[in-house]
Amino acid sequence: MKALILSGGKGTRLRPLTYTGAKQLVPVANKPILWYGIEAIAAAGIREIGIVIGPETGEEVKVKTGNGDGFGVNITYILQEKPAGIAHAVKVARDFLQDSPFILYLGDNLIRDRLQEFLAKFQQQQLDGLILLREVKNPSAFGVATVDDRGRILQLIEKPKNPPSNLALVGVYFFDSSIHQAIATIQPSARGELEITDAIQTLISQQHNVQAMQLSGWWLDTGKKDDLLEANHIVLDEFLETKISGNLDEHSQIYGRVEVSEGTQLINCTIRGPAIVGKNCHLENCFIGPYSSIANNVTIIDTDIDHSVILSGAKIVNIHQRIVDSLIGRKAQLILAPKRPKALRFMVGDDCKIELQ
Ligand code: TTP
Repeated sequence: MKALILSGGKGTRLRPLTYTGAKQLVPVANKPILWYGIEAIAAAGIREIGIVIGPETGEEVKVKTGNGDGFGVNITYILQEKPAGIAHAVKVARDFLQDSPFILYLGDNLIRDRLQEFLAKFQQQQLDGLILLREVKNPSAFGVATVDDRGRILQLIEKPKNPPSNLALVGVYFFDSSIHQAIATIQPSARGELEITDAIQTLISQQHNVQAMQLSGWWLDTGKKDDLLEANHIVLDEFLETKISGNLDEHSQIYGRVEVSEGTQLINCTIRGPAIVGKNCHLENCFIGPYSSIANNVTIIDTDIDHSVILSGAKIVNIHQRIVDSLIGRKAQLILAPKRPKALRFMVGDDCKIELQ
């Protein structure tokens, strides 16, 4: 058994962060999203992992994630020249996959359930495909499946206007080698991509045994800002443990579950968990509210932060207001003049959004 994680793509919904970095490396609770997938696969006992990367962000993914030693796995990187679809990424990875069965894992997805139970069913029943499904409130936004009472998939429809069920396809699939023949027969869709749903539909039409299982825990697709904030909320809520390695002065207070890493200074700050602050940060006269993740080398002075994700090297000074539900990119600077400013001066990248309310 092998695993293939997709970490290429365009990431248009997470611009402007994805102009300069891979969306799969955006952190949730200060850990890149991609690494949660690698850890889940390693925990299921799979050692051979291929990671599909794109030309723009592939190098960053490689440098940060490494050869897999840190996860107890072997990682092979596979370059996909263009983001021509999920099935296209599988095609590009054929040399790595050979005829091995494999897990296909979309690198921007997080799931609560362990993979072991699904893997056991896939292997014991010698299935050709096993698809994970999750009930959603807005099925029109997803690939949707209809399933018979024995769990066999009857039909898959991509983003249906009139959804036949509320069961969405989660970004985790199990396949045997028959998926490669199916991919070889499909054509690009209207949006110009080789769709994995079309390949699975082909397997079903050819009477291959493709089954479905429903997740019992949450599933988060971190493609957009609010999804990412929700993922950060849930992961901090469920997994964060108190660990204080930084320095707090006598005027600083910590309530609830909070992690503060080495080299970080807190001066006259209150942190209410669950919240995490990375290494070598300088926080002064701040309130950091629940569900906030502050990455390494961040400076925050005279500003309150709540339910937000702040990436490494950001500098937020003198805002004197609460920043909520926000995602602040690497080395971004939000600085207000010490007196009430007479003018606002911006250097804002493409596709940024600033709401002054
Ligand atoms: P998507 O989120 O469907 O696509 P995207 O990354 O292009 O994002 P957006 O819709 O915001 O433009 O992709 C799911 C995952 O699969 C994601 O981790 C990127 C990856 N992927 C590839 O590696 N190659 C591809 O050709 C495609 C389409 C996606």
